[in-house]
Amino acid sequence: MDKLAIFGGSKAIERPLKPYNSIGVEEAEAVKKVIESGILSRYLGTWSSDFYGGDKVKEFERDCEKFFNVKHAVTVNSWTSGLTAAVGAVGIAPGDEVIVTPWTMCATATAILHWNAIPVFADIDPQTFNIDPASVEANITPYTKAIMAVDIFGHPADVDSLMEIAERYNLKLITDSAQAPGSFYKGALTGTSSHVGGFSLNYHKHIHTGEGGILVTNDDEIADRLRLIRNHAEAVVEGMGITDINNMVGHNYRLGEIECAIGIEQLKKLPKLVLGRQKAAERLTGWLSSLQGLRAPIVMPECTHSYYMYPMVLDIEVLGIHRAKIIEALTAEGVTGLTAGYVNVHLLPMYQNKIAYGSNGFPWSSDICRRDVSYKKGICPVAEELHSSTYMGLSVCMHDMSEIDVKNIANAFLKVWSNLDYLRERK
Ligand SMILES: Cc1ncc(COP(=O)(O)O)c(C=O)c1O
Repeated sequence: MDKLAIFGGSKAIERPLKPYNSIGVEEAEAVKKVIESGILSRYLGTWSSDFYGGDKVKEFERDCEKFFNVKHAVTVNSWTSGLTAAVGAVGIAPGDEVIVTPWTMCATATAILHWNAIPVFADIDPQTFNIDPASVEANITPYTKAIMAVDIFGHPADVDSLMEIAERYNLKLITDSAQAPGSFYKGALTGTSSHVGGFSLNYHKHIHTGEGGILVTNDDEIADRLRLIRNHAEAVVEGMGITDINNMVGHNYRLGEIECAIGIEQLKKLPKLVLGRQKAAERLTGWLSSLQGLRAPIVMPECTHSYYMYPMVLDIEVLGIHRAKIIEALTAEGVTGLTAGYVNVHLLPMYQNKIAYGSNGFPWSSDICRRDVSYKKGICPVAEELHSSTYMGLSVCMHDMSEIDVKNIANAFLKVWSNLDYLRERK
């Protein structure tokens, strides 16, 4: 049996993984043309044809509409901007509650606070790590106006169950597919089956434009409101003849011509890039599925996974070893990008101290909202347990994994697992 690297043996992986890079000559050529045109953005924050941006913005949006099979695609300068625009566009008002998952990047929940509305955290499903519809329903109050689901790590949330709840309680469903472009849920691409959804184009996503985001919706009114919030709504509503001016505080969330030119080329590559991740992940699962006490990613029926992360769960009782020791041993073997746990957004200091704006606890302290919204440890037991002891992720989004890389990673796992007795003995 090979000696573990953590005890001075040789590493299972000698060659570091190649950093992920989806940008090539096509993007370089596209950028060159935009620069030569001299028009890097053609937006105007007034009611005119330039309200909708320049040629590349429009071309990229039409391409996205075709690719995602939706009526409207609206580009924005980050997905954080996109989420904020989405919350405003569905009509969320101060004091409204929006039920959101704790397993996400913090921006999903802060987009709610941006409108002085209140994030309420529901627990997650232990198999997919996505928001649990039963917990969503248990958290509905007379203040609830929307649900925000995230297709975390690349696996679709249970959109049918969430839409059914949304319809029954007259709520809007917003989906954050930042990590899951190109995943399918029951034959439809993620992001496209809710009232409004979308994707991040930041640099560590499957496809990117440096920074950026794409909103998708089939609802004409929501689409109009997204475009207004993106581009100085308050200055434009009059010209556009909009009479319902609630939530019409606008921003500059505009994505430029260069980014959109890159986006056009990136979108063409998305299916192949997703397929590459799926092949690597499925190969890895093939190797790891025999390991006792380790659960490889689960893909639910009628879903596909795009593997932003490769999520695993450890059975600590079966293993008899803490997660930290396993990660230490795997890292010593040369496995990079392992994470212990994920974020529990409700436990971040802003929620624990209930202070978002100013120093007096606004918005939670105000009369506009229900005062007893809780962020105490224990409100999301599944998410908290996975985070603190059993969840282990492998960040595939940062690397290009060849067949040999996958085999090497698998070998590192197999080596650690065949040395568990030694690891257990190590203090
Ligand atoms: C689930 C999720 N939501 C929102 C965001 C924010 O996206 P952006 O960085 O484009 O603002 C991210 C980014 O990592 C994310 O992973």
